[in-house]
Amino acid sequence: MASHTYVATLKDSTTVFKNDIFQGKILFCTGGGSGICRGMTEAVMRHGADAVIVGRKLDRLTQTAKELSAATGRTCIPAQADVRQPKMLQEAVNKTIERFGKIDFVICGAAGNFLAPISGLSENAFKTVMEIDTLGTFNTIKATIPHVRQSKGSYIHVSATLHYKATPYQVHVSSAKAAVDALSAVLAVEEGPHGVRSNVIAPGPIGGTEGMQRLSNIADGNSSRLPLGRVGDIKDVANATVFLFSEAASYITGQVVVVDGAMEHMRHFQFPYPQAVLDPGSVQKMIQGKL
Ligand SMILES: NC(=O)c1ccc[n+]([C@@H]2O[C@H](COP(=O)([O-])OP(=O)(O)OC[C@H]3O[C@@H](n4cnc5c(N)ncnc54)[C@H](OP(=O)(O)O)[C@@H]3O)[C@@H](O)[C@H]2O)c1
Repeated sequence: MASHTYVATLKDSTTVFKNDIFQGKILFCTGGGSGICRGMTEAVMRHGADAVIVGRKLDRLTQTAKELSAATGRTCIPAQADVRQPKMLQEAVNKTIERFGKIDFVICGAAGNFLAPISGLSENAFKTVMEIDTLGTFNTIKATIPHVRQSKGSYIHVSATLHYKATPYQVHVSSAKAAVDALSAVLAVEEGPHGVRSNVIAPGPIGGTEGMQRLSNIADGNSSRLPLGRVGDIKDVANATVFLFSEAASYITGQVVVVDGAMEHMRHFQFPYPQAVLDPGSVQKMIQGKL
């Protein structure tokens, strides 16, 4: 069986972007207490920004904020809020303004997920995911937009690739993330004239996250079917975040940036992979005609 001849590099954004490009900027990040959004926050802080991370579990937020501050030399503070509750979000925004005076960047990343077929999914379970992912994104935009307009800032919404094709057992998240993509595009068009940008990052399966450990076996290090020879890392999403918030992306808005190492394009590839592309002769028997 042929194996990969190439494995994509995994570098810190600071090896590519200067470490002071976000000096004086303030990030407001929902979901920043853990996983991918924590990594996105850390990367933005490593380039000079201070941050507020938002979630429901104050203990974890407080611990994460301490660790991020220590790791980056910047300031990170926790703000407890459930994104389904506009009042709580407003309080988190008020806390941000009291402490830092402004908001430049917003990451809408809070989300929930689990596996369930439509036949086994309760109305309440569907509604809960829609409320956290979609309504939570809407609420976050509403609470932050006056400040982001003022700073001519930028949004990144964390979506997924599940809804590009039908993904069994993921109807709730697929529906919610499709709506998040739509929200971001409309935000880009409505707020562009105010100097605000809005983009989506759609991660593929990202290794080392709780979601992947629970929902999939791809993150178990089985990278033999992945075009770039390895599973996605939180750092891959973090690096895309730095680019999209940077001035290098000042004409990029209303877009979805997929960070999945081309996995999305692999869903219908019928032959053993990468054997089929590295050694076409090995699949000759399976096809009509010559490769
Ligand atoms: N993991 C992947 O491979 C993958 C792939 C594609 C897309 N994504 C997306 O990437 C983002 C991060 O995912 P992750 O895997 O890193 O998951 P995670 O660690 O579970 O992060 C989710 C975060 O959202 C917060 N949250 C959940 N419900 C909330 C609510 N009602 N109000 C406020 N905060 C809430 C959680 O904090 P509290 O519990 O403290 O509230 C947690 O910090 C999500 O948008 C997810 O859909 C992940």
